[in-house]
Amino acid sequence: MTDLFSKFDPLIEQRRALLAGGVEDPFNLVMERVISPTVAVCNGRETILLGTYNYMGMTFDPDVIAAGKEALDDYGSGTTGSRVLNGTYAGHKACEQALKDFYGMDHAMVFSTGYQANLGIISTMAGKGDYIVLDIDSHASIWDGCKLGDAEVVPFKHNDIVAMEKRLKRIPEGAGKLVILEGVYSMLGDIAPLKEMIRIAKENGAMVLVDEAHSMGFIGPNGRGVAEDQGCLDDVDFVIGTFSKSVGTVGGFCVSNHPKFEILRLVCRPYVFTASLPPSVMHTATTSIRKLMHGANKRAHLWENSKTLHQGLRDKGFTLGTPEAQSAIIAVIMPDLERGAAMWEALLHEGLYVNLARPPATPAGMTLLRCSLCAEHSAEQVQTIIGMFERAGKAVGII
Ligand SMILES: Cc1ncc(COP(=O)(O)O)c(C=O)c1O
Repeated sequence: MTDLFSKFDPLIEQRRALLAGGVEDPFNLVMERVISPTVAVCNGRETILLGTYNYMGMTFDPDVIAAGKEALDDYGSGTTGSRVLNGTYAGHKACEQALKDFYGMDHAMVFSTGYQANLGIISTMAGKGDYIVLDIDSHASIWDGCKLGDAEVVPFKHNDIVAMEKRLKRIPEGAGKLVILEGVYSMLGDIAPLKEMIRIAKENGAMVLVDEAHSMGFIGPNGRGVAEDQGCLDDVDFVIGTFSKSVGTVGGFCVSNHPKFEILRLVCRPYVFTASLPPSVMHTATTSIRKLMHGANKRAHLWENSKTLHQGLRDKGFTLGTPEAQSAIIAVIMPDLERGAAMWEALLHEGLYVNLARPPATPAGMTLLRCSLCAEHSAEQVQTIIGMFERAGKAVGII
């Protein structure tokens, strides 16, 4: 018998070697108690959270929590069924209406996760004989959506407008084309030149899908994302998003103005063949989305936080993923996995949690300490964080 696990041996060995050095496992930390969107207890110690997707700090919003509790009482703990059978409750419809209002679009479809939204929309829209042109740094759920469908997949260099155009022009006349972009790329926290890319995609007869997972709620005058910020939202055929970041719960969605959009509810397998989200989740999401429509002050504070942290870390001598703050994600580039893990642990001992990110999630084999800011981080917390980075960076020898 061939042991099917043998393909994981290199990873098992890498993990063993890393942990043998005595470093704490960066992928097995427990949040023992969560005190607020920005503070949790880890290893018995209060720790500032700088590695969550809780950009707008909605997880402890009193209205959001009250809506979830009420729905639990009124509708029970789960739907036990697919959206197309017994799994559509009033809460699912209300959530889709909130999304339509939030984006000013005609159609909204809620999925059980953002991962499934990409899986479903991409694999259903681009089939045999069609072409998908996508950024090489696309999220795993986008790549997996491509795999699940039968389209030809043509990647181009990250954020490279010329490379994208070249790939589009090589596609045979008459073939269906879907260009897939992200507003914010989550590893380095950089944004896409969506306006120019979408213009070229449209000139070449392609439909466009933009994943705004990391920009919804925060970027753009109404928090609709990078496409709104760059004034090209009307040209996007499908916006994909998630409730697991700014919305502060779990779930995914697609919004669109396409007149035939509703047919997807019958043909999109990751929508049909899975249970719908629990009503409590729908009610928390709906309340959160509606509050995010009035989140201008929080958005402004989050920009302040992001710019202050970027400047502060750069001034201390760290190498960052972007020349300036472009989103709520600030990526600190580590020389290698060993020193990345040591720095991660040193920060944890300081009382700070960040994400340790490494290949294959990261581009170009990089090890990153990914910091994601929250609108609930105070200005003082941001200064404390910069001090923690300085001490940890000196202790590990990174600065
Ligand atoms: C760009 C992007 N798209 C989609 C997803 C999936 O979101 P979810 O957590 O809802 O599955 C993520 C999650 O990290 C993401 O970063």
